[in-house]
Amino acid sequence: MELKNVILEKEDNIAVVTINRPKALNALNSETLKELDLVFTTIENDDDVLAVVLTGAGEKAFVAGADISEMKDMTVLQGRNFGKLGNNVFRKIETLSKPVIAAVNGFALGGGCELSMACDIRIASNKAKFGQPEVGLGITPGFGGTQRLSRLVGMGMAKELVYTAKVIKADEALRIGLVNSIHEPEELLNNAKALAKTIASNAPIAVKLCKEAINRGMQVDIDTALAFESEAFGECFSTEDQTDAMTAFVEKRKLDRFKNK
Ligand code: CAA
Repeated sequence: MELKNVILEKEDNIAVVTINRPKALNALNSETLKELDLVFTTIENDDDVLAVVLTGAGEKAFVAGADISEMKDMTVLQGRNFGKLGNNVFRKIETLSKPVIAAVNGFALGGGCELSMACDIRIASNKAKFGQPEVGLGITPGFGGTQRLSRLVGMGMAKELVYTAKVIKADEALRIGLVNSIHEPEELLNNAKALAKTIASNAPIAVKLCKEAINRGMQVDIDTALAFESEAFGECFSTEDQTDAMTAFVEKRKLDRFKNK
């Protein structure tokens, strides 16, 4: 499949995914969602990639939402299928075995805000704007917005944002915990890559298990969650990375690199 709307690049052990429809402010149509699905399958299967940065092309937008022109005349069935398509791709990103950092360089509205929320970490340019404007268009959020926003910022704040359809600036997104940090626009991508490289310098299997434990633990009761953590912790002791890192520590030397084994 030829990629028209998504760019996949690799730098050392990180992948950089750019949504590339700047003329439509990177709006997500079906074609772009299918390309994103393919790109994230490729990344999942690439053992060299240890962390991912996801961003939008151009200076204005991360993603300005699902494509309104495509949705305008949808039937109930088409709407449901479009929602499922987006939800399945975003879930693939959320459950990817490697951390994904959203570098939010501009508008992150509707499906764009939802895409950022499917990522592990969000960092934003000081020009970024976030919101779930769907009710102003006669629809509900459809790519996870009614679920992930409340998990991230709490139910009260999520309901206010979703019911009012208001758009918030980066500093407000930081205040409510929707983003981790704010950056000058020209520094955002490099800072996201630096964060990805820091993550990629740690033991990949341990990082993967941490992602799984945090994600799964948030959805279940504390006893089930802690049982999963114990499993993950135990599994680490089957890895060469654990043996190598702890041996290096005890021998007071620096470990050159993790083997991802
Ligand atoms: N879908 C399709 N096209 C879009 C788009 C979208 N979500 N957002 C922007 N575009 C297009 C515009 O139609 C315009 O195209 P033309 O040049 O061909 O006219 C181009 O991108 C540039 O946009 P504007 O001229 O509107 O730029 P602006 O600077 O005046 O405004 C904006 C920027 C405030 C982001 C405005 O474009 C806007 O409000 N966009 C829609 C945002 C939105 O409502 N998103 C939610 C969509 S619903 C959703 O996402 C559902 C879901 O949960 C799955």
